[in-house]
Amino acid sequence: PRSSRETGSSHRTGRPFPPMSKTTSQRFRSTSSMQGYTELARERSKTVTSFYNQSAIDTSAEKSSAKYLHKELPVRIAHRIKGFRNLPFIIGCNPTILQVHELYIRAYHVLSDFPPITDQELETRFSKLVQQLLDDHKDVVTMLAEGFRECRKHIQDETIIRNFLDTTLCSRLGIRMLATHHLALHEDNPDFVGIICRRLSPKKIIEKWVDFARRLCEHQYGNSPRVRINGHVAARFPFIPLPLDYILPELLKNAMRATMESHLDTPYNVPDVVVTIANNDTDFVIRISDRGGGIPHNIIDKVMDYHFSTAEESAQDPRMSNLLNNITNSGPQSGPMHGFGFGLPTSRAYAEYLGGSVSIQSMQGIGTDVYLRLRHIDGKGESFRV
Ligand SMILES: Nc1ncnc2c1ncn2[C@@H]1O[C@H](COP(=O)(O)OP(=O)(O)O)[C@@H](O)[C@H]1O
Ligand SMILES: [Mg+2]
Repeated sequence: PRSSRETGSSHRTGRPFPPMSKTTSQRFRSTSSMQGYTELARERSKTVTSFYNQSAIDTSAEKSSAKYLHKELPVRIAHRIKGFRNLPFIIGCNPTILQVHELYIRAYHVLSDFPPITDQELETRFSKLVQQLLDDHKDVVTMLAEGFRECRKHIQDETIIRNFLDTTLCSRLGIRMLATHHLALHEDNPDFVGIICRRLSPKKIIEKWVDFARRLCEHQYGNSPRVRINGHVAARFPFIPLPLDYILPELLKNAMRATMESHLDTPYNVPDVVVTIANNDTDFVIRISDRGGGIPHNIIDKVMDYHFSTAEESAQDPRMSNLLNNITNSGPQSGPMHGFGFGLPTSRAYAEYLGGSVSIQSMQGIGTDVYLRLRHIDGKGESFRV
């Protein structure tokens, strides 16, 4: 091992061997110039990269990751199927709910019928299957939202629906995180280890979803509020973008919609939305503040309920109906600004599943602050398990 260290390459992989070469330490002592430091930094990052460039290790990791999924997914899916069976009969018989139930049964069978993963070829086939299942299940949230909307009037007990949806949606998020992580291990992206981004910038990912939400908003209301981002804008840390990719657009759409609808008479002069990032050893917080009038007292306790939405009421406003006619005439590619009443409850369920929270402070008459809090995956406090 000593000689391979000194020649800077490993016999087994033929790749450069990781850190502390003699030249690095010598250069560290022999120069104090700025350029020396930059070179040193570059060299260091090169040696760190070589830790991650070990194809033999990757191959066996992929195989064991596939084996793990092969065992784990059917168990998780079986629990979901039990959840469908335990639904009140009147809901379980809804055609849309049955369709989702069937998707899960199918997934259970194809996964448990898959042979033990013993070689690379089976691993590749298994990964294809996982990708296929991810695609098959991509509309499950929309289908559940529709199915339950059709039949929830038959159900007195709201907690049955809440518990089922919280559990099913979070379990689905967990399954999709595991599956996507496995598939992403095959990809060669130096910023990522599977689905974990090694240095995620909250500001960057917020900006991405601000652009998305503003486009939707402009499409629907003819204008959109500007968004200012402040606080720890330079923060970077390892995190999984996937849940943020769901939660951020929902919270931003809500803030923009409230802003626009509380300023329908002055749509070209609307207050900014302000997003504040706070990062610390244990967790990070993203606060989204709007001046959209706040959430009225009489609905504040309901906004976290699945299917609760004021979308229909705003469609009654004559100033809105023009705008809404515009959307029905245009393409579906932009996606809805609001309507299902799933944005807040789903965001909260996902955040809590990851050991965090979504909480709302409304200043009735002025605006709303929504706090999204998430634990670091490498933080001081206890982290979360998927
Ligand atoms: N920032 C906000 N300001 C005012 N009202 C809000 C805000 N966010 C959410 N709401 C209210 O909560 C309801 C539920 O929000 P959500 O769960 O995202 O469903 P949707 O957006 O489909 O209506 C909205 O219809 C709206 O009445
Ligand atoms: Mg919403």
